[in-house]
Amino acid sequence: MKKTILLAVTGSISAYKAADLTSQLGKLGFNVEVLMTKNATAFITPLTLQSLSKNQVHLDVMKEPDVTVINHIELAKRADLFLVAPATANIIGKLANGIADDVVSTVALALKTEVPKLIAPAMNTYMYQNPITQRNLKILKEVGYTEIDPREALLACGDFGRGALATIEEITKVVLNILSTSEASYEK
Ligand SMILES: Cc1cc2nc3c(=O)[nH]c(=O)nc-3n(C[C@H](O)[C@H](O)[C@H](O)COP(=O)(O)O)c2cc1C
Repeated sequence: MKKTILLAVTGSISAYKAADLTSQLGKLGFNVEVLMTKNATAFITPLTLQSLSKNQVHLDVMKEPDVTVINHIELAKRADLFLVAPATANIIGKLANGIADDVVSTVALALKTEVPKLIAPAMNTYMYQNPITQRNLKILKEVGYTEIDPREALLACGDFGRGALATIEEITKVVLNILSTSEASYEK
């Protein structure tokens, strides 16, 4: 059976790269279910990610497509891996502080401890270096998230520095490493 990756896309300029990521993960044989924040939809359309993932995109925690279940809990239970890419400074702050006010942060909070959780930040270099962002990332790593480090690059804002989303190859490599060794060893 295909393993399910919950891919959470947030409102970064690099959100368009989530299309390639979704496509690559699908080609590698994973079932990809995309979750988007409202702000992510300003950068890439749900239709694009729906078409590439061949699954409905989850946008609204209050939308219950199946009335017999609670969607965010069911989604969390289906996850073999949770990947936030790109992750904004905002979502990093929310996840680190247990805020659950949209579909991404609510599903994240409902994940079992054993589910591998990856976070790939993408933001301006000063936002990334900000002690608050670094503190939030430290908290996430302490509770089991793995950070996929951003790259140094000339950023969309014109600044040069660390903050560019890791390459799709780097992200898929980390996913493959985790999912080829985990063999869904935890009880769902
Ligand atoms: C053009 C533009 C590009 C942005 N790029 C980023 C980014 O790469 N990383 C980031 O953390 N925030 C970025 N932001 C700011 C976020 O979109 C903003 O903090 C938003 O509240 C994040 O919402 P979300 O985390 O719910 O998706 C950008 C905003 C704009 C207008």
